[in-house]
Amino acid sequence: WFLVGRRRRRRQGEPPLENGFLPYLGCALQFGANPLEFLREKQKKHGHIFTCRVAGKYIHFLTDPFSYHALIRQGKHLDWKKFHFATSAKAFGHRSIDPAEGNTTENFHQTFIRTLQGNALDALIEAMMENLQYVMLQSRTSKLQPNDWVTEGLYTFCCQVMFESGFLTLFGKEFSSNHDKNLSSKQETERAHILNALENFKEFDRIFPALVAGLPIHLFKSAHSAREKLGEALLHKNLLKRNNLSELVTLRMFLNDTLSTFDDGEKAKTHVAVLWASQANTIPATFWSLFYLLKNPEAMRAATKEVRSILESAGEKISLDGKHISLNRKQLDNMPILDSIIKEAMRLSSASMTFRVAKEDFTLHLENNFYNIRSDDIVALYPQLLHFDPEIYTDPLTFKYDRFLNENGEEKTDFYRNGRKLKYYYMPFGTGTAKCPGRLFAVHEIKQFLALIFSYFEVELVDKNVQCPSLDQSRAGLGILQPVNDIDFRYRLKCV
Ligand code: HEM
Repeated sequence: WFLVGRRRRRRQGEPPLENGFLPYLGCALQFGANPLEFLREKQKKHGHIFTCRVAGKYIHFLTDPFSYHALIRQGKHLDWKKFHFATSAKAFGHRSIDPAEGNTTENFHQTFIRTLQGNALDALIEAMMENLQYVMLQSRTSKLQPNDWVTEGLYTFCCQVMFESGFLTLFGKEFSSNHDKNLSSKQETERAHILNALENFKEFDRIFPALVAGLPIHLFKSAHSAREKLGEALLHKNLLKRNNLSELVTLRMFLNDTLSTFDDGEKAKTHVAVLWASQANTIPATFWSLFYLLKNPEAMRAATKEVRSILESAGEKISLDGKHISLNRKQLDNMPILDSIIKEAMRLSSASMTFRVAKEDFTLHLENNFYNIRSDDIVALYPQLLHFDPEIYTDPLTFKYDRFLNENGEEKTDFYRNGRKLKYYYMPFGTGTAKCPGRLFAVHEIKQFLALIFSYFEVELVDKNVQCPSLDQSRAGLGILQPVNDIDFRYRLKCV
């Protein structure tokens, strides 16, 4: 009775309110079971803005894409950092990284932009190209002979290749040079360490939604220990033993040491956060891109043709004698078909959510109306509503590889709703100030992965008629959703 009594009443000028049936949890269970269906139903009932009580918080959902800019431009009243900082501290176990709280003066967002974009991106791309080939051709398949088919889970494969290559690219290698006498045993040890880190990553990642929802990590013994082990591997004293650390990690180490009062364990936890951000969405996005390609022979033909022609014009030859292909940023940027495929795969699998917290009571101005918002309330966007809107994307559940290409075969940017051109139509990376700083690197690494797979391997699904796996909704709101089950595929080295 006490909790029921604390439910909020809608005041004049506020959006329609859904308190839900459950005390405290409110709409949390209905929302969690199928967010898209839940929001569509409420949108039908209430219109383009409504408020839901979810786990004690009041969330105002904006569902009209023409109102999205209201959230993006309300800088004065809406805070994007509070929610991010609090989530990061809860999930990774460091103290607050909000400079206002006095533990550090580092502006993390600036650090990320500086070290993931601009010139820094060229170096990341170059390292990733090298590492992907090392992982695909040496580390994983050193004993693979041309003509030998290997059957494996596609998700497992994407997970191992992207984690190992991405880890090496950001956190460098343990061994130093190809002239090292004990190189192959060192490579094997390194691979074992990284696969071990992958197991810890998966164990921790499994409970990530629960941590974001506010459950303490102590409730999850094995995930807690997995997070601690990841932290151990990323202690500064261990990172200092590695070669070829990325600029991102080097700068973050320096700023941890010079601008923060974090102890060694907390410093390492900020690196675990970067590791998670760099992998958690990239892995499923890579899976969906390759899965849809394998299911769509026409898309596969167009993609392989594009890759072949870029390699030819770059003068690159595929060989298995240890000489690696190199494609620079400009060459990778000249692959509109792969861009469209990756975008389409992410449109179908992304369920990110954009949050802002109201700093004070204020009035939110939308196109044709305005609403009162209370301090500490959350204003949110759920772009899957947009990605699955049949008016914007005809036949929205179907993969169309050329959906993001115009008639000239270039990037298509005009999408319409009610006859009006949309500014926001594709948002897997979020939007506004908090937009993912790693988005350019992410798309490049998936492109590199696909280009190399087509160049070195023949790949096919074991069962060509296999059903598309459904999306694991338990992670809705966190980014690219994982498939609920893995799919068998097989690959073999091409005879080149
Ligand atoms: C934040 C998506 C890959 C680094 C985010 C956010 C989203 C996102 C939705 C939150 C933005 C917001 O709240 O508005 C994705 C997707 C990826 C991907 C879909 C892959 C397909 C990467 C990669 C890196 C990275 C490869 C780094 C190497 C980050 C960081 C943040 C972030 C550091 C936090 C930014 C901040 O709070 O300042 N990402 N991301 N992401 N992402 Fe990504």
